[in-house]
Amino acid sequence: MGVLIYPIILIGPMGSGKSTIGRLLAARLGLDCVDLDVVIVEKAGKNIPRIFEEDGECVFRALEAESLALLCTDGKAKVLATGGGAVMSAPNRERMKQAGKVIWLDAPPEVLAKRIAGDSNRPLLNGVDVLAKAKVLDNQRRKYYEMSADFRVDTSKVSAAQAVDAIVAFANSNKESE
Ligand code: S3P
Repeated sequence: MGVLIYPIILIGPMGSGKSTIGRLLAARLGLDCVDLDVVIVEKAGKNIPRIFEEDGECVFRALEAESLALLCTDGKAKVLATGGGAVMSAPNRERMKQAGKVIWLDAPPEVLAKRIAGDSNRPLLNGVDVLAKAKVLDNQRRKYYEMSADFRVDTSKVSAAQAVDAIVAFANSNKESE
C-alpha cells in the first residue's frame, strides 16, 4: 500500500487488544505505535494507578485529553492506541474523527474480564468484581465506541494477526497516499 498520511486510532475497552494489535499493526505499516497511556505516564512522571490515587481520575482525564489533542494535530501518520475511556469525552471523539481513521476493537465483557482479571495497573478494576465492572463499562461506553468508529473488529473472534489483516484491508480501501 502507499504511505498512509493519517493516523490510525484504536479505541475500545480495556482488554480489547489495543496495545498488542497496535504494535503489530504499526510494524506491518512501517509506522510508529504511540500508546496514549504511555504518553500520559511520561507527562505525569508516575504510573496510572498513582495518578488516580494521588491526583484523581479528573487529572488523568485532563492529561488524556491534552495528550490526545497533541497527538491528533501533530500531522504525523501513526498508530495511536488510546485508553478505554478516551471516547467518553465529546472533544476527544471530535479530535479523533478529524485526525484519522478510528478503529474499534470490540469484545464481549466475558472475554474482556478473563483477559484483564488480576491486572493491578488498571485502577478502575481495583477491588471490584471484574466481570460486573466490564459489563457496566460496556453499557456506558458501547454507544460512544459505535458513534466514533469508522471500522470495527471483534477481537474475540479473530487472532491478533487476523485483526491486523482486517485493519490493513480497511486502510487500503480508504487510503490517502502520497
Ligand atoms: C481506562 C483504560 C486504561 C487507562 C486507564 C483508564 C478506562 O487503558 O487509560 O486505566 O477508563 O477504561 P486501557 O484501555 O489501555 O487498559
